Amino acid sequence: MDPLDLIRTPLSWGLVLLGILFCAFNRDRIRKSLKQPIFRSRITTCQPEKAAPEYSEDAYYSIEPLHNFDVDKEEPLKIRPFKPKFHMTMAIENTTLSDLVAMDKTYRDRLKIRSELIQQERHEVLACNPRAVPAVLELYTWLTCTYLPTRFPLLFTPTGPHLQNNITGALLPLHMSNADAALQLLGENIDDEFLFLLPSDALEDKRKYRLEAFVNCFPSGFNTRAKLGLLLADIHTPVPGYAQKLEKSMDRFFAALPVGRIVKRCNWSISTNGQLFCLKGNHMSEAELAAKEKEEGGMEEIDLTKTVLRCERQTLHRLPESRALVFAFKTYLYPIQELRDEGSGEVLADAIDGLGLGSVPGMKVYKRQVVWGEKVKAFLRGEITA
Ligand SMILES: *[C@@H]1O[C@H](CO)[C@@H](O)[C@H](O)[C@H]1NC(C)=O
Ligand SMILES: *[C@@H]1O[C@H](CO)[C@@H](O)[C@H](O)[C@H]1NC(C)=O
Ligand SMILES: *[C@@H]1O[C@H](CO)[C@@H](O)[C@H](O)[C@H]1NC(C)=O
Repeated sequence: MDPLDLIRTPLSWGLVLLGILFCAFNRDRIRKSLKQPIFRSRITTCQPEKAAPEYSEDAYYSIEPLHNFDVDKEEPLKIRPFKPKFHMTMAIENTTLSDLVAMDKTYRDRLKIRSELIQQERHEVLACNPRAVPAVLELYTWLTCTYLPTRFPLLFTPTGPHLQNNITGALLPLHMSNADAALQLLGENIDDEFLFLLPSDALEDKRKYRLEAFVNCFPSGFNTRAKLGLLLADIHTPVPGYAQKLEKSMDRFFAALPVGRIVKRCNWSISTNGQLFCLKGNHMSEAELAAKEKEEGGMEEIDLTKTVLRCERQTLHRLPESRALVFAFKTYLYPIQELRDEGSGEVLADAIDGLGLGSVPGMKVYKRQVVWGEKVKAFLRGEITA
């Protein structure tokens, strides 16, 4: 026998023995170290789910009820979004789906105006392209089956296959198969406009959104029908600064908005006609201004008793099934006398000056400040009466 074998054998036995002892001694530690990676990986796969609840579909079904809501006592929101300088930004804030529809004591009167407009101006206030049918029906069903009866239980009561509007007595079928009829019912029962946007189906711009359906009774100086099928950017062509300041971030934001998130913003302008349904005349281009200035008596008389601060409370959210975006807004009109009486006259007058002082000076012409600015400011500052 090789003498080396004698050494080798006890040595190897010794090593084996040591190994066994080491393992026995560290049994718990080894077990833990084997478990830990598994445990850790479970945590990492859990975390995204945990951080996401506000972006989950649950958000559509956890609507907070307003149990004692008395629509006839609720004052309209006082929206005062003006700043001393007008800067073009998205200026959005996060909100909840419960906050989608704002109701107040103007509801009855507004519904009357809306129903009349839907009868008389149907072609202008309501439309649906075939590709938006599922989106319209999805929003409709969610509103009738979930949102309205949960949020406003005193105003909307489910009765059999219908939802009853407690103010007008109208019966809304819980489910609809005709998108035009669904838009009409929404328009007649909710004082909000709903515009549906879908990703473009053209290859070159498929992450950009197009307007594919709407019920819009209160357009503020544009014809919604003429915008049907257009990309966001083309809808905003007349808005100065939009292409330079906003287009890219808007397109990115619209494409990325996840299911379950809803954002809100407000805007304002001065309307000298005070009309809720306004297809044109609230905006102006540089060329139109030049033409007016040449014309004898081209600048119109401003009637301060008809002049209002016009604000929109806008929201944007995505439908979970069709994945369409819903742009919704409610219009508020405040006579400028009210602004002066409440002591906001000076701040609004400064903001009117500020239209030409911010990131897009062209706003001054676009919002027709050049036409009504001096007179409205003088009134707001208490220098003249109406
Ligand atoms: C709104 O929520 C988003 C996502 O949770 C967040 O990134 C953003 O900062 C929030 N915005 C504001 C204005 O709080
Ligand atoms: C409306 O609601 C009130 C109180 O909930 C109820 O007394 C009344 O009968 C309802 N009216 C209609 C038309 O449903
Ligand atoms: C508010 O913004 C929308 C576009 O987001 C525009 O169409 C509308 O004219 C603006 N309304 C007011 C009152 O400024």
